[in-house]
Amino acid sequence: MSFRIQPTPPARPNRCQLFGPGSRPAIFEKMAGSAADVINLDLEDSVSPDDKDKARDNIIAAIGDVDWGQKTLSVRINGLDTPYWYRDVVELLERASDRLDMIMIPKVGCAADVYAVDALATAVERAKGREKKIAFEVIIESAAGIAHVEEIAASSPRMQAMSLGAADFAASMGMATTGIGGTQENYYMLHDGAKHWSDPWHWAQTAIVAACRTHGVLPVDGPFGDFSDDDGFRAQALRSATLGMVGKWAIHPKQVALANEVFTPTEAAVTEAREILAAMEEARAKGEGATVYKGRLVDIASIKQAEVIVRQAEMIAG
Ligand code: COA
Ligand code: MG
Repeated sequence: MSFRIQPTPPARPNRCQLFGPGSRPAIFEKMAGSAADVINLDLEDSVSPDDKDKARDNIIAAIGDVDWGQKTLSVRINGLDTPYWYRDVVELLERASDRLDMIMIPKVGCAADVYAVDALATAVERAKGREKKIAFEVIIESAAGIAHVEEIAASSPRMQAMSLGAADFAASMGMATTGIGGTQENYYMLHDGAKHWSDPWHWAQTAIVAACRTHGVLPVDGPFGDFSDDDGFRAQALRSATLGMVGKWAIHPKQVALANEVFTPTEAAVTEAREILAAMEEARAKGEGATVYKGRLVDIASIKQAEVIVRQAEMIAG
């Protein structure tokens, strides 16, 4: 371990982030009643330019009026390349109740993007005497975002989570696909004439996980566009969970249960993790640093791996 201890990320469940357009207030109550850990009310790309002002008003009213329960409540503002974002920040922080937990900044390209929103948010919070500091989450969805992913993860003490936005990312990278996440038809290897599909999102995901883990931020997988394809969603989510991501977006309510299922450690996994911890405790008592569990090596690193699973399960249960 480096002399610098790896910081722990916010201790809250983030298995599913359910999105809904700010211009569609009829679904806000349904979102609040869902099983998602995080709610993202959108002002950005699901809202047309003519509806931006109305969507802002809808969201500001709903933040105070709707019972959001224990959920983390976030609003996705418009990107810094638009004329809308400053009013999103100012109006949210001047007018919305302090039930609002987070602002999601899309298309972040460098740490200075976060700095700009931080400066504005700080000024409005001070002017209004807001005691609860708003947290930030960002979307990595451009070539610049992934190139500067580490400085973005370190950009502000407000930073809590970082998502991969597959569609805008693919466009910015010039990837030859219109799919939003998942397996890509043309991304395969040939072996003995048979096709084996690889994962074109893998590098971006691992880069995000590494940056997030270095700086105590939650890494999250973004949208899976084909909401009719449950197996495809599950496969994508399982890969993300295996790589260290803690959750995934839902762009339709039917994806919430799928994400919760994948990102909640199974009872079998938790039992096995506890057994590994017990086996290692026994080894330690005998003065040994390694032992055998079910015919395989477990050692001091296994304790940390098992603790990740147990801690996640306890945090979700608690
Ligand atoms: N959250 C909660 N409930 C939702 C919902 C959402 N995001 N989207 C739809 N619903 C509700 C519908 O109101 C409907 O409710 P009902 O059974 O009481 O009538 C039910 O879920 C089934 O909806 P369905 O008819 O299958 O979908 P739709 O055509 O109404 O909407 C989308 C489909 C994709 C347009 C819609 O889900 C949506 O806007 N998703 C979020 C898009 C978004 O925010 N994108 C930005 C991030 S990428
Ligand atoms: Mg996007």
